[in-house]
Amino acid sequence: MTEQLGPAELPRAAALLRQGALVAFPTETVYGLGGDATNAEAVAGIFAAKGRPHFNPLICHYPSAEAAFADVRADDRARRLAERFWPGALTLVLPRAAGCRVELLAGAGLDTLAVRVPANPLARALLAEVGRPVAAPSANRSGQVSPTTAQHVLDGLGGRIAAVLDGGPCEVGVESTVLDLTGNEADGAAVLLRPGGVPVEAIEALLGPIGRALPVAAAAATQSLRSPGLLLSHYAPGLPVRLGATSLGRDEALLAFGPPLKGAAVAWNLSERGDLREAAARLFAGLRWLDAEGTRQGCRGIAVMPVPETGLGAAINDRLARAAAPRG
Ligand code: TXA
Ligand code: MG
Repeated sequence: MTEQLGPAELPRAAALLRQGALVAFPTETVYGLGGDATNAEAVAGIFAAKGRPHFNPLICHYPSAEAAFADVRADDRARRLAERFWPGALTLVLPRAAGCRVELLAGAGLDTLAVRVPANPLARALLAEVGRPVAAPSANRSGQVSPTTAQHVLDGLGGRIAAVLDGGPCEVGVESTVLDLTGNEADGAAVLLRPGGVPVEAIEALLGPIGRALPVAAAAATQSLRSPGLLLSHYAPGLPVRLGATSLGRDEALLAFGPPLKGAAVAWNLSERGDLREAAARLFAGLRWLDAEGTRQGCRGIAVMPVPETGLGAAINDRLARAAAPRG
């Protein structure tokens, strides 16, 4: 049963989010499927509820620019954009800050993070009450259109999430504009990753001309795609990754699932009990740890035990396949 909450029940929605439950909430663009971004299991739950076959990096939502800029490294461009367009339908992709509280899974393991301060007053009140970054993709099942009413959310996700906070229909109705600011500020390399609620002309009026991410097919062909969740730009460890390992080579670190293969000097278990949600929550942290610790201890590669292809397993295997892909 998905609880239907009205604005007066905002404290209940906030309490559920703090407990790690999933709560859909209105923003001015579309309804978001919120989960505590500092809780990897909650973030894994978002992917499970949406039925996404892969881990797209998610946008983290904050009640203020100050709160957002605690988790990312904001440069001058970011501050000017925030001043002009926040709260509002603009998402900024920036490098994660040193003390970033957001779980790696929320950013699909990347060193960058997408942050946004929504304009909807109920959303901001909720985010302030939660007091933590809230990861929220659009609150629809994978492959369906984004919801702009609480009823749309229930149509797609009813029974799969704890609650929906009903704030009426969304004003903007299309998702936020996503702008990548991780390029070098000196070369002015801001790149539009997704057109959305804030027109690109308004951004260019402030920043000057910005780049456009190539359409997916062209980008795949030129290997220059910058928006992950699409194809190429994704986290990959420095050590080579070997999938489907049923035995362990000498000098291999082990990424285990279920009862681990014996004899690894450096091992990380995604889930001893074979739970896919736990495995998703521990995936990126595990790859990073194995890469660092394995390298430190002289390992030559990372062997990955098979992960079932069911449920979240499909997304886990998608990310593992990318991590194992030949580097260009
Ligand atoms: O309006 C919106 O943006 C809505 C509301 C709920 O805020 N959210 C939304 O989230 O549309 P989602 O997950 O459906 O779309 C997130 C977009 C994707 O295109 C994703 O690839 C991009 O943002 N994105 C997120 N993090 C990124 C990162 N670190 N680098 C590049 N692109 C990123
Ligand atoms: Mg979406």
